[in-house]
Amino acid sequence: MRNQGRSIGLVPTMGALHSGHTELFKKARDHSDAVVVSIFVNPTQFGPNEDFDTYPRQLEKDLETCKALDIDLVFAPERDEMYGDSELSIQIDSLNRHMCGASRPGFFEGVLLVVNKLFNIIEPDIAVFGQKDIQQFQIIQQMNREFNHGINLIMAPIVRANDGLALSSRNTYLSDKERVLAPGLFRSLQYIKKRIEEGIDTPGLLIEHQKSELEAKGFKIDYLNIFLKTTLQPMNTLEKEKSYIIAVAAYLGSTRLIDNILIEFS
Ligand code: PAJ
Repeated sequence: MRNQGRSIGLVPTMGALHSGHTELFKKARDHSDAVVVSIFVNPTQFGPNEDFDTYPRQLEKDLETCKALDIDLVFAPERDEMYGDSELSIQIDSLNRHMCGASRPGFFEGVLLVVNKLFNIIEPDIAVFGQKDIQQFQIIQQMNREFNHGINLIMAPIVRANDGLALSSRNTYLSDKERVLAPGLFRSLQYIKKRIEEGIDTPGLLIEHQKSELEAKGFKIDYLNIFLKTTLQPMNTLEKEKSYIIAVAAYLGSTRLIDNILIEFS
């Protein structure tokens, strides 16, 4: 493809493809001549008590999806192909201190390890990631800068079900009852955003109140807070000219759900 002078867009995934993923494929198509999708359930980003073994795997179906969308190439390596000779790791100083980094030790190091490999193997011109995993995007962007990958990174908006629930491969774990409750997360984020836009600049109490409401509905909150977009540090006081992320991670039963909304003042 490169010899033909075509620009290459990469969309890394762990498979179990849904419309959240396929919207990224479309974005990649809009910004490049050839689209490469990688499908690899990356073992290094799962903790010992996480769902690596049960993570949904449906390669044949995913290949059908890619074929129907005219994806030019699917890279679906075996574990040994990616991690035959493992010695090195990538450390993160502060961007993983809060949000998902705080409750999933080693997660973003594992993500960087595999994305760094994918960037080197595929050598794309652009790569597309979802806002759904906004901390992941910010950390990959830092790696892109610091390791001089020179790839044009694009963040695609969150794709949601009609009731507001952010699409996720993990939504398949939800029971019918949990699935009905799940959109409550997005409603809380929207409510907090609305109140901030109305002028609340010290949102501590507002957030505590939303946490209690979600807990009362049956969520177990990992975090719900407001973070400065650039540093991913939690903020108690908001300033007009800065951009923030209202982000949540919560369990319904044993399913971990995440979601976020951006507040861009500028
Ligand atoms: P995975 O969870 O499969 O997600 C692949 C990409 O799809 C990520 O960039 C993610 O943010 C995006 N995505 C998932 N659900 C989305 C939604 N509802 N709306 C918009 N985008 C969505 O993220 C990973 O895999 C892995 O960590 C990976 C980057 C592939 C490294 O292993």
